[in-house]
Amino acid sequence: MSTRKSDPAIAAASGWSGRFSEPVADLVKRYTASVDFDSRLADADIAGSLAHARMLTAIGVLPSADLAAIERGLTEIADEIRRGAFPWSSDFEDVHLNIERRLTALIGDAGKRLHTGRSRNDQVATDLRLYVRAAIDDIGAAVVALRGALLDLAEPHAATIMPGFTHLQVAQPVTFGHHLLAYEAMLARDSERLVDCRRRVNRLPLGSAALAGTSFPIDRDQVARELGFEGLCTNSLDAVSDRDFAIEFAADGALLMMHLSRFAEELVLWSSPRFGFVRLADRFCTGSSIMPQKKNPDVPELVRGKTGRVYGDLVALLTVMKAQPLAYNKDNQEDKAPVFDVVDTLLPTLAVITALVSDGLEVDAERMRAAASEGYATATDLADYLVKKGVPFRDAHEAVAQAVRHAESERCDLATLSLASLQRYSPLIEDDVYAVLTLEGSIASRNHPGGTAPAQVRAAIRAARASLAPAGAR
Ligand code: ARG
Repeated sequence: MSTRKSDPAIAAASGWSGRFSEPVADLVKRYTASVDFDSRLADADIAGSLAHARMLTAIGVLPSADLAAIERGLTEIADEIRRGAFPWSSDFEDVHLNIERRLTALIGDAGKRLHTGRSRNDQVATDLRLYVRAAIDDIGAAVVALRGALLDLAEPHAATIMPGFTHLQVAQPVTFGHHLLAYEAMLARDSERLVDCRRRVNRLPLGSAALAGTSFPIDRDQVARELGFEGLCTNSLDAVSDRDFAIEFAADGALLMMHLSRFAEELVLWSSPRFGFVRLADRFCTGSSIMPQKKNPDVPELVRGKTGRVYGDLVALLTVMKAQPLAYNKDNQEDKAPVFDVVDTLLPTLAVITALVSDGLEVDAERMRAAASEGYATATDLADYLVKKGVPFRDAHEAVAQAVRHAESERCDLATLSLASLQRYSPLIEDDVYAVLTLEGSIASRNHPGGTAPAQVRAAIRAARASLAPAGAR
């Protein structure tokens, strides 16, 4: 063990006190540094520092001349970062120390005064909240764009008949527009969740300092206003330590990816030659290097595959936070990579799915219709018909089941059985039954809010569009 005396140069480089008697081991420096990934927080860090410095001047703690130098220096640093000219160095642990060191190099002692009444603990919590808030806005806008694309595709298909499935078996006819609206409804909830999450993200931790607050007469409201925060984190220990806002964001992202993966899975199925409901444009597909006939739906498959990353990010964040004693612990440095990964997965995923929906999909209405006419999709309609004639539903169900068996043995559809054959299963059947057994009759009869009748689908599209309009945009 070295017993070297405290070296002011070491203290200056590390950013912490001269308490140490030897420099930190290189191995440890590399292990504990975060600048390689947290440099992404630079814009937020600069914004937070500017607001903090202005507040310090307003309360008389930082001379105006120092504030002017800090503003000039941070502006220059922001510019250097944009130009790729900033001298990032892993000698300084993280984004905060890199920027502070550079500021001091540029403007001298004023740079050293910036950290008055502040700690990296409340600083990093503030930066991450600013980052997540911006990410929510970007992802929220991308979700709205996808919802718009789904509505655009649903509109011309409000009456396009396809089989609805349960257990992936033909169940009842629905319209393609109705089916697409199911995803719009899921994404509308995702939008709501993000908006709701944003309210809790948008609270200011600065002022909490290391954990207990600060002895300076700070004006937290001023800082909050300048940074666009809707309120303050109310407890300093909580403010510097909890990352539930990031976890909530990742949870919202995980749900969103789950929805996208369901849609992606349907695209894979629908575009397979067996279904043939849609064709994906060639530019969204790849071929096989060995099987010349293949056109693979790589994009939706990757959407499905990348869903696991975001689930992983959520679990990582939950686990980072689990069982941490108050207040800040270095564990929290591990919050950044998963948050960035959520953003880096969601934004391109939403962009590519939106492009595919709005401009890469050809719908084969004939194949959809043909598939809907197989599998006795209107059997429930026949049962409902009998119920309307006074037959108890369970008896009607049984009678129709027999009729389906009959049709199956004849290898024909219910609608092609003769009236006499149908009447063997119930004498109440008359020739008005054929209106009920057609696909159009079936969908038109489900004419209530939330149902698949084309008129309802059109109304639902109008309502969804209204909620996407700028005033209600979420
Ligand atoms: N890089 C650190 C992080 O990401 C900043 C906070 C450091 N605070 C401390 N007490 N070591 O959390």
